[in-house]
Amino acid sequence: MVASHGEELRDIHQEDGTREIFVDACHVPSYARSARAELQSVAPRMIQSPRLFEDDLLPGIVAIVLLVSLISCHVSGPRTKGPLRNAATTRHIKLGTAASALHLGDPTYTRILGSEFAQLEPENEMKFARVHPERTRYDFRSADALVSLAGAHGMAVRGHTLVWHRQVPPWVSTGNFSPAELSRILQDHVATVMQHYAGRVYAWDVVNEAFHDNGTMRNTVWYDQPGAGYAGMGTRYIEQALRWAHAADPKAKLFYNDHGAEVMNQKSDAIYAMAQDFMQRGVPLDGIGFQAHIDLAYDTPRTLSSFAENLERFANLGLELHITELDIRLHDGSPASLAAQAKLYAEIGKMCVQQPACKVLQTWGFTDRYSWIPRYYPQMGWALLWDAEYRKKPAYFGLLTALEEQSKGF
Ligand code: G3I
Repeated sequence: MVASHGEELRDIHQEDGTREIFVDACHVPSYARSARAELQSVAPRMIQSPRLFEDDLLPGIVAIVLLVSLISCHVSGPRTKGPLRNAATTRHIKLGTAASALHLGDPTYTRILGSEFAQLEPENEMKFARVHPERTRYDFRSADALVSLAGAHGMAVRGHTLVWHRQVPPWVSTGNFSPAELSRILQDHVATVMQHYAGRVYAWDVVNEAFHDNGTMRNTVWYDQPGAGYAGMGTRYIEQALRWAHAADPKAKLFYNDHGAEVMNQKSDAIYAMAQDFMQRGVPLDGIGFQAHIDLAYDTPRTLSSFAENLERFANLGLELHITELDIRLHDGSPASLAAQAKLYAEIGKMCVQQPACKVLQTWGFTDRYSWIPRYYPQMGWALLWDAEYRKKPAYFGLLTALEEQSKGF
């Protein structure tokens, strides 16, 4: 196998019969030679019988050494971990980002992703319509590509999302299924997707965005249009989805995820009432995801203390808290706006550091080059930590400083 240009794999046969394999940035050339030297020092007898050595033992030893180095290389993750990732890790926080398989061919994208973040979450690749495009067909290819990239960089993977009213494939939304059929379809989907990623995805947004802003249930194909069997029964279908998820992968952490519920309001009250009920009745809910798609209007003492108070009440239920989709959209990229944005990223970073139950701080992408904001909020953007040319923005340093300065609230 000749050397490939990517970072990935170069497999070179040395004239002395040893092999040099480059995997990612892990280089294991000398091992083979040192293994032999090592051996020569401890067991001269064996060396005398070259036949034994050459044919059976040496290749075996080299293979073991290579295996160990590959594992240690992968376990230890990338050679260099970026400052943001390190600072967060020191605070017992996983710094994560949404990632898209569409950009894995962009080396700068994968370099920053693999070094500055300890976790990734597929932006679209694990959604129903993407992994289950036809009733009898699942397509894990693009999600698998992201999961293996994460593995290669020692990153965790957070799954998103199993039950959501958007990105529902046409075969479901126009299938005219009965509630009983929809229930079977949803149970099969949850089980198949979670079992495919069991052991590789440590946490899932099982249900996403099930409430309206006024705290009532969102009317969706899974709730009451026609619903998976619990129409009009409030959060029962969410409970059922969590029970299916727990049965599919008992080791995975199970989350309910939503937007606009970061502060004390009708929606967060409804989610709190659901979580309290679930915790009392032993429904398998491990945590809450707060999306935090915000703008500069969020940066008021009242809003920030309401956010902290909200996190505290959910923490007191014994739940793990994740900030799952943080971005701070701006109307312009002026130095003043970028400075205000940096301050707010620092405030959110501080909030997570000071709340012991906050274990994940995740942005919804990391470069303005690839952000959903301009498409959904025309005339807005500049929402992330790197600009469209992959230059670190004041926001990056604002968050970094907050992570470096603060000590975790325990
Ligand atoms: O991949 C297709 C492409 O083949 C096609 O040419 C193009 C035509 O429009 O669409 C592409 O798919 C788009 C996909 O993003 C990938 O870029 C979908 O149309 C578009 O709807 C989808 O938008 C995603 C959106 O969720 C809807 O699912 C955004 O990227 C994604 O950032 C956004 O993420 C959501 C979270 O999942 C939940 N919370 C809110 C957040 C923002 O809306």
